[in-house]
Amino acid sequence: MHALTPRQLPAYEQLLAALEQECYAFRESLGTRRVSNPESCLQARELVEQPAGFEVFRQVFSTEIAPQLSASNGGRYWGFVTGGANPVATYADWLVTLYNQNVSKGGDSIASQVERQAIKWITELFELPAAYEGVMTTGATAANVLGAMTARQEVGLKQGVDVAKAGCKALDYTVFAATPHASMVKALGLAGLGQESWVQIACESNSEAMDTTDLANKLNECHSQGKIVIASAATVTGTDFDDLVRVAQLCRKHQAWLHVDGAFGIFERLLTGSQGKTQGIELADSITLDCHKWLNVPYDCGVFLTRHPHSLFATCNADAPYLVNDETEQPFMSLGIENSRRFRALPVWATLLAYGKQGIKSQIQRNVDQANVLASWLNNSPAYELDKPCELNVVVFSASDKNKLDTHDLLAQLNEAGQVFMTPGVWQGKAVIRCAFSNWCTEMKDVELAIAELSRLAS
Ligand SMILES: Cc1ncc(COP(=O)(O)O)c(C=O)c1O
Repeated sequence: MHALTPRQLPAYEQLLAALEQECYAFRESLGTRRVSNPESCLQARELVEQPAGFEVFRQVFSTEIAPQLSASNGGRYWGFVTGGANPVATYADWLVTLYNQNVSKGGDSIASQVERQAIKWITELFELPAAYEGVMTTGATAANVLGAMTARQEVGLKQGVDVAKAGCKALDYTVFAATPHASMVKALGLAGLGQESWVQIACESNSEAMDTTDLANKLNECHSQGKIVIASAATVTGTDFDDLVRVAQLCRKHQAWLHVDGAFGIFERLLTGSQGKTQGIELADSITLDCHKWLNVPYDCGVFLTRHPHSLFATCNADAPYLVNDETEQPFMSLGIENSRRFRALPVWATLLAYGKQGIKSQIQRNVDQANVLASWLNNSPAYELDKPCELNVVVFSASDKNKLDTHDLLAQLNEAGQVFMTPGVWQGKAVIRCAFSNWCTEMKDVELAIAELSRLAS
């Protein structure tokens, strides 16, 4: 296999044999390899003129690249909010590459129908009204961008401006938020609404959740023709949920667009139902959620849902004679950022089919139990401070004053040892460590290992 010519194509046997070996080596290495590789270094190489061939790539990958990759697909990587790739989704993702569909529009394959059904299943999973339609995105950031852009389009329509066509120069609007995720702030910038021009709503005491009295006051005082409220379900550090029922009531009263970022927090709905912490999310104009987090499908995969698909279409529609076809449904390339799109719906569809609502729910519950075990150990340890009671899957802690370590050094030493991986955060102005459980293959013995590591560092 030394040139890109069709005659070289039937090398699948070779590829499959190599992949099989790679899979076994990877699974075996997960138990022993470092969880993170902060000191990784790729050797400088010139672009080759003559084909080096598959075997050379394979050899370089397994000797130089694979050993320096993180074990983020294993059970002890607890940074950010990182899901693993579950086995069924992994297999489906291999198929995605094998078939390599471009899910831009229908008319030539069933792929768009699979995406449409996967989105419908997602709304059913989370007990959302059938009025929601949407699109698979590259992640929650892209979904938040669509949220900002669709809100902008609706706000424009009410002022007689088609923003997608005329731009937003003439737009009169105000955006309100309490603790938006950094990606939401980025999205406001990308949508031209401004990263720094939103109105800060106060938070409830010792919480990142929105103070709805402050929201009510600020909406009352606001004279803009267009209002957009960004709410959280949940925040990335405190896992705090805004009171979405109250926020939605206020939005209705002030004719404000409500976008809820539920990237991972929406999965809480599987544990406590539609009357739990996410109650009211079903009233939002648009919702962001991630599948590559708690649904444990491979990167990259998020979902944007909206009750206003026409505004989404108006925002994203791409017209060109060569793109026309007879499809009656709106093509996905006119509902999202990219024209050419990966068949990322298949691993989601496969996961929902293979594990069902109960299978997914029990995995979420396992992660929440794991977080609680670590949190309660930290709470009882004189060396550490649990900075916030654990309410979902994220544990927020620091070195206690009695411990000679500072929190920053503690995290560095913990990650340096390579047994577990956690990331920094800030809670109520204080530097903390965040430990987020969202991987299907984390086991209680992994939590015990983390506790052993933390005990060792404390002594
Ligand atoms: C609440 C929230 N929103 C958005 C994001 C961004 O997600 P992504 O990295 O998938 O774009 C995250 C990531 O952690 C998140 O927790």
